[in-house]
Amino acid sequence: MTYNILQPVTENGIAIVTISRPQALNALNTAFFEEMNHLIASLAADNSIRAMILTGAGKAFVAGADIAEMVHKSAEEGSDFGRLGQRTFDALGNLPFPVIAAINGFALGGGLELAMACDFRIASSKAKFGQPEVNLGLITGYAGSQRLPRLVGLADALYLLTTAEIIGADDALRIGLVQKVCEPEMLMEETLRLARQITAKGPQAVRKIKMVTRQGLNSSFGEGSELEAVHFGSLFGPGSEGEEGMKAFLEKRTPQWN
Ligand code: HXC
Repeated sequence: MTYNILQPVTENGIAIVTISRPQALNALNTAFFEEMNHLIASLAADNSIRAMILTGAGKAFVAGADIAEMVHKSAEEGSDFGRLGQRTFDALGNLPFPVIAAINGFALGGGLELAMACDFRIASSKAKFGQPEVNLGLITGYAGSQRLPRLVGLADALYLLTTAEIIGADDALRIGLVQKVCEPEMLMEETLRLARQITAKGPQAVRKIKMVTRQGLNSSFGEGSELEAVHFGSLFGPGSEGEEGMKAFLEKRTPQWN
């Protein structure tokens, strides 16, 4: 597939994907979702990928769903457009490796929903966050009403969802919406540093802990704990990653991951 909106590059097992439609502040349209679904499928099938970074070109990460495309939709088409985004963002979050949003500017509406579908968020000090849908007489459509309270708690989520207030990076850090804030010129360097920190670890262990943690959140405590026990055990045995990691510790050397 030829990508027109997404610009994917891979560097030492890290897929760096830039959303580039700056004339519309990277607003999400149907063409974006076609490209994103294709890219997710190809990255999921590529065992050499160990982490992904998602960022935006220009002054926005993503300023929301494309209002010009949405304005003429019927009720049914509106729901379908929401479900398309929900499916895509679920698939993004469920990629087998960590997905990091490097938030360079506006992350509004569907753009914040996209950032929240990632595993964590690093923000430029210039980034702006909000769910301004109620300004348009709308509500979130890409599961923002579900992810935001899970990330920041009910009161801060409802505050953002009902006031449409745009907050800065420091407030986003304070409520736990982002994990780190850095100077704009350091954003990619900081995010790459984080990605490299993860890709240096046991690759199977990283995949498994992501899967167990995410799946556990949607199960009971007991089911999640059992899932953990099964996958913990799967890292033991001759030739396993756990064997290599533990032996390397005891032999005071760096582990050699396969
Ligand atoms: C389509 C958009 C857009 C969007 C910006 N643009 N946001 N086009 N959809 N979400 C376009 C503008 O129309 C303009 O095009 C160009 O990008 C630059 O934007 P400006 O407004 O001129 O920039 P600025 O003055 O810097 O203001 C930035 C901004 C503002 C504060 C981010 O653009 C804004 O409020 N955008 C809308 C944000 C929003 O409401 N997002 C939620 C959308 S609903 P022209 O052609 O005039 O240059 C949503 C629902 C998700 O996301 C669920 C769906 C199922």
